[in-house]
Amino acid sequence: MLTIGKPALEQLAALLLERAGLRVSPDGFAGLRLALKERMPALGIADADDYVRRLRDRQGEHELRALLPLVTVTHTEFFRDPRQFKALEARVLPEALKRARREGRKVSIWSAGCATGEEPYSIAMLLSDMGASREEVDLWATDLNQSAIESARLGRYPIRRMAPVSRERMQRYFTPTEDGYEIVPSLREWVRFDGLNLAAPVFAKVQHATFDVILCRNVIIYFDLPTIRGLMDRFYAALRPGAFLILGYSESLFRVYDRFEMVEVEGAFLYRRPRLEGAPRAPRPIERMDEPPPRPITVTQPPAPGPRHSGEFPVVVPARAPGGAAPAPTITGEFRVVVPAQTESVTLPPAPDRKPALRAPAERLAEAARRVALGEFEGAVEDLQALCASEPDDIACHLTLGNVYSVMGRAEEAAKVFADVSAREPLCVEARVYGAMAAMQVGRNELAKSELAKALFLEPTLALAHYLAAQVSERLGEHESARRSYRNAIAQLRFPQRPLAGFYPDLPDAPEQISRAARYALAALEEAPVANGA
Ligand SMILES: C[S@@+](CC[C@H](N)C(=O)[O-])C[C@H]1O[C@@H](n2cnc3c(N)ncnc32)[C@H](O)[C@@H]1O
Repeated sequence: MLTIGKPALEQLAALLLERAGLRVSPDGFAGLRLALKERMPALGIADADDYVRRLRDRQGEHELRALLPLVTVTHTEFFRDPRQFKALEARVLPEALKRARREGRKVSIWSAGCATGEEPYSIAMLLSDMGASREEVDLWATDLNQSAIESARLGRYPIRRMAPVSRERMQRYFTPTEDGYEIVPSLREWVRFDGLNLAAPVFAKVQHATFDVILCRNVIIYFDLPTIRGLMDRFYAALRPGAFLILGYSESLFRVYDRFEMVEVEGAFLYRRPRLEGAPRAPRPIERMDEPPPRPITVTQPPAPGPRHSGEFPVVVPARAPGGAAPAPTITGEFRVVVPAQTESVTLPPAPDRKPALRAPAERLAEAARRVALGEFEGAVEDLQALCASEPDDIACHLTLGNVYSVMGRAEEAAKVFADVSAREPLCVEARVYGAMAAMQVGRNELAKSELAKALFLEPTLALAHYLAAQVSERLGEHESARRSYRNAIAQLRFPQRPLAGFYPDLPDAPEQISRAARYALAALEEAPVANGA
């Protein structure tokens, strides 16, 4: 009989955070419990407190390695995220290779958090296809999960994992085995695999400014903010000026780390260490756009599961700028740099003294909003959770908590808050609108579409909902429908727009702001060829 109490789970979560930067919220305790049910009998331990003690003792490192695969996701695919691979194939890798050849050195690429190796082998295939030789490439792949690394080294994959690999590449780079395919040794040798904990404060094997590209995709979603920031400092130092950091499609550094510039390459958003170093800036506090933006406000294409730790909510320039209507995006070199819209700091009430029990809910909500504005997300969540517990009927508090979860990338918690509010108050438009924004954050565009349809059913004159619906349509490639919704957004501004309940950082809710953003997006769309309109 196993004893697994909540205190032990809390200690285990704290230990995983400390050792591996992994963020396990109480919602994830069921997963921890399952992992313990597997590991505790293996060690002959019946009490989870003893197991946690074991993890902390000298052999703890060994046990941690056995536990981690059970609490992290190693799902990966060959050529995962076609958009990013298009950018890699068309621009990033050829140009890095060219530059390395010009400078008489190897092109240096790091797949950080490579799981079972599909990502680095995909890169090796691309480089080989473009005529690079083994000697010209240093391709390093690391992961914390030793069994994943061992499997990656073998380079054997079941048939079902081969779907994204073209027939030509199958023939060129794989040999069939009894139950799948194996990477040919000549390509396997391209990749150096190593165990490495990305949460470690120092990477002993990494030299300053040596990498042309670092891929760290679908890894930081598990990390807490300090771990992400520390890791980004180390990545920044490891990259050459002008070199690329590629995070997962869903992962954003918006409001988390601002030393990289964001560039759009072949439709993918990538981070780049600036070529010219400016003085490093401290992470920006949250800002709110009080002025109409110089370009449309876009909920950027986001996560599959994960934190856009930040929730890259707002501002990304559109693919095309309308002639003269607003400043065009900055062009540097050959990639388009995505610059944030001009912003003004939010003016929120000063911090009241911290005696929450004595303060009114509205004051406490304003204080939480202020903390969000300062980037103190964790603290704001704590405040809001306490506020929701003491004011269970205050919808604005719940909505704000949902929004902060969403901005932090805690997608499931956000979805739950909005679902709960909608269940309690089926006519609450805000729950639908914010729920849609949270769904957009995690790439659930169909869900966002249906939530916005519900919001508009309840309040057809809500311009923001039309605007967001247009954004969703754009993402779904439904350009005609997007145009219609942008026009509707502008048209509805004839009606007074009420302020929405709940706080959302950077919500483009001022009528002029929505109007200008919609006009700008519409102009960009009108210039685009009518393709797959719906
Ligand atoms: C979902 S997989 C991503 C694989 C691949 N990058 C991709 O996008 O397809 C996440 C990987 O991150 C690894 N990981 C999680 N925490 C880590 C840490 N602290 N250090 C190194 N790797 C870690 C996991 O072991 C897992 O293999």
